[in-house]
Amino acid sequence: MKISQGFIEELKYRNKIDDVISSYVNLKRAGSNKVGLCPFHSERTPSFTVFTNTETFKCFGCGAGGDVITFIMRQENLEYISAVEFLAKRAGLEMPEDTEHKSEMVKRSRMFDMNREAARFFNKMLYDPCAKQAQEYIAKRRLPASAVKRFGLGYAPKSFDALRKHMHSLGYRDDELREAFLCGKSERTGNYFDYFRGRLIFPIIDNFGNVIAFGGRATDDESKPKYLNTSDTPVFKKSRNLFALNFARSACEEYLILCEGYMDVIAVNIAGFPNAVATLGTALTSEQARIMAKYTKKVVISYDSDDAGQAAAKRAIPLLTEAGLEVSVLKMQDAKDPDEYIKKFGAAKFRELIEGSRGKFDFLCDGVLKKHDINVPDEKVKAAHEICELIAAIHSSVERSVYIAKSAERLSLDEKSLRSDVERIRRKLGREEDSKQMRKIISDASGYGDRVNREAVGNTKAARAEETIIGLIMLRPELLVKIKKGEYELCADDFKTSFGRKVFEAVEACEDKVDIGVLGAQFSVDEIARITDMQRKRADLAKNDETVLSDSIRALKEEKNNAASGDELADALKIIQAKKKKQ
Ligand code: UTP
Ligand code: MN
Repeated sequence: MKISQGFIEELKYRNKIDDVISSYVNLKRAGSNKVGLCPFHSERTPSFTVFTNTETFKCFGCGAGGDVITFIMRQENLEYISAVEFLAKRAGLEMPEDTEHKSEMVKRSRMFDMNREAARFFNKMLYDPCAKQAQEYIAKRRLPASAVKRFGLGYAPKSFDALRKHMHSLGYRDDELREAFLCGKSERTGNYFDYFRGRLIFPIIDNFGNVIAFGGRATDDESKPKYLNTSDTPVFKKSRNLFALNFARSACEEYLILCEGYMDVIAVNIAGFPNAVATLGTALTSEQARIMAKYTKKVVISYDSDDAGQAAAKRAIPLLTEAGLEVSVLKMQDAKDPDEYIKKFGAAKFRELIEGSRGKFDFLCDGVLKKHDINVPDEKVKAAHEICELIAAIHSSVERSVYIAKSAERLSLDEKSLRSDVERIRRKLGREEDSKQMRKIISDASGYGDRVNREAVGNTKAARAEETIIGLIMLRPELLVKIKKGEYELCADDFKTSFGRKVFEAVEACEDKVDIGVLGAQFSVDEIARITDMQRKRADLAKNDETVLSDSIRALKEEKNNAASGDELADALKIIQAKKKKQ
């Protein structure tokens, strides 16, 4: 799936990194660079830096980094090739006629077509006599025809090959159907069979209107599992998609309603809220939170009222907050979920519920007060302590004051004593934060916790030499040419860590200079961030001549012959001690 260096150069030339990033981040000039608030984690002071001279970016807070392609991969949740395509479109460039790449695109677009045909088939079957049970179920759930149409619901017949036969008639093959999770294959007999059978079908549609997956509900309340969902495919990642976002994204300027299930989203839509989404049979992920943050400022969590739903809400809060979203939580009584609530009490009452939703502090506070009976002194002490911990975690001192006053009232306790407890906890948290930072420095220095290059632990010297060599080659393209000509005795086998070796191989395969935009096809976004760092770190140093290269090659060869040794760890420990002293 390799795209030529020339094309990537042209692509980057037409998509200047600060220009592209400016449409997502408010950038301010800082010397020769530009800085802004990182779009990948929540922060109050900018640590996100764009280096216009090298056309790269780096967040010193969360470690994200790379070039304009890596940025788009992260920001738009795209695979490498789709990010390249995105930027090509932005600049009005034709994608290159690359056979391998083309075949990947053909496969994806065939899968979209296949899913669309399947959705059509399921929808048509809903009006077939065989769908009697599904129709009865739709009536029982009081789904109007308008909702069935809007969400494109369908029925998968109770048959092992109804869909398969239909898809065969359209020219699709079993192996393709299986890859799209429309068919399964029996391990025992090797036979293919329809994956969804006797189920009400909910198509999942992306923002471009493509059908990317399906959810299927049993048409009774006994069959297990209740819902069957498409697993990840080349066009679908359940951790990166939300049900009904295709509708909600243009109706959520103010807020999004986050539900647990398909049926809730549909009921909430019928009640007049098109701004509802649901996760796809899994807990909320940070990717989904970031996606929501792209469309809205606030999320109202409308999970089930049972303990499981409330616990899930509690887990969702930090993810949403981290993505920079304001959060509130629905307080639903006498109904298990939004669907049931709306059916029981009507749309107007649901609107009141939304308008009266509690801020996340009140929600968490309610949780504490439900656990402890504050008429019992011991329990009251526990409740007060837990609430003080919640308040202590709040950044704004104004907010803390408001909540202290509020909590003092709820607990009928003295405001002053609550305040002093909160301050004590904050001091302790401050110390813990310091030591957490300390631990991070230690693990960085020793190579522990290095998720990108795990072999750096115990191979610090070799890893350092490797990074120097790669950084230098990236910085000075003429060195790449010399190495390729054999002017230096250096080959991939000289590299000791497999990550270093893999990067060197990719670098060596470049034509006359290294462009991270080309490497992006083979490395993850985290790996790209690390490779970008190798160059940036080198560029920050004054001495980058050829003696640095030859010294590093010599050091690497020496290290290569050493097994990972205790000395290495001793070295790492020395670095840690030195850093500790400096602190
Ligand atoms: P629920 O069990 O709350 O279902 O699961 P629901 O949406 O309220 O559906 P009805 O009203 O009973 O028809 C919430 C969500 O969890 C996922 C589905 O996405 C569902 O919408 N789920 C649930 C599964 O993926 N598999 C299951 O077996 C059950
Ligand atoms: Mn439910």
